[in-house]
Amino acid sequence: MQSINSNEEETLRVRKLEITDKSKGFIELLQQLTICDSVSDNDFQERFQELSAYGDNHVICVIEDDSSRKIIATGSVFIEKKFIRNCGKVGHIEDVVVDSSARGKQLGKKIVGFLMDHACSMGCYKVILDCSVENRAFYEKCGFKEKEVKMVKYFI
Ligand SMILES: CC(C)(COP(=O)(O)OP(=O)(O)OC[C@H]1O[C@@H](n2cnc3c(N)ncnc32)[C@H](O)[C@@H]1OP(=O)(O)O)[C@@H](O)C(=O)NCCC(=O)NCCS
Repeated sequence: MQSINSNEEETLRVRKLEITDKSKGFIELLQQLTICDSVSDNDFQERFQELSAYGDNHVICVIEDDSSRKIIATGSVFIEKKFIRNCGKVGHIEDVVVDSSARGKQLGKKIVGFLMDHACSMGCYKVILDCSVENRAFYEKCGFKEKEVKMVKYFI
C-alpha cells in the first residue's frame, strides 16, 4: 500500500466539479467505472448547468492532480427529500472512482468522506449506496455496513 507524502496531502484536496474539468479527463475517469460514451462540450455544459441548479442537493466532487492537471478521483451525492422520518433527507452516493494509477492512496476514502460530510451537513439521517461484492471491504473501511438486498430493473 502506497502512502501519501505531506506534499501530496496538501495538493490532493477534494473540491467540487468545475466546468473546465471536462478537459482534464473527467469523462475518461468515469469510463473506468462503467459504460460512459464520450460527451460533447455542449452536452457537458448543459448537464453541468442542470446539475448546478440543484445547488447543495447534488454535489459532484473531484480530486485534481496538480502536477498532471488531471482529475484522478470523483464521486457524487444526491440529497433526497422525504416525508418519512419527520420530512427527513437521505444522501445517495454514486459514481465513486479513482484513476487506476492512483488507487491504494486513500483517495477513494477521501472522496467518500467528503460526500458523507456533505450529506451530514445537509441534515441527512443516513447515506446509502450500491456496490459490487469486490468493493464491500472498501466501503466498510469508509464506515458503511451491509444492509438488505439491492434490486434493479433496467429500461434499456
Ligand atoms: C473502489 C475504489 C474507489 C477504491 O479507491 P482507492 O483510492 O483505491 O481506495 P483507498 O486507497 O481509499 O482505500 C481505503 C481502504 O479501503 C481498502 N480497500 C480499497 N479497495 C479495496 C478492495 N477492493 N478490497 C478490500 N479493501 C479495499 C484499502 O486497503 C484501504 O484500507 P486502509 O484504510 O486500511 O488502508 C477504486 O478501487 C476504484 O475506483 N475502483 C473502480 C471503480 C469502482 O469500482 N468504484 C466503486 C463503485 S461502487
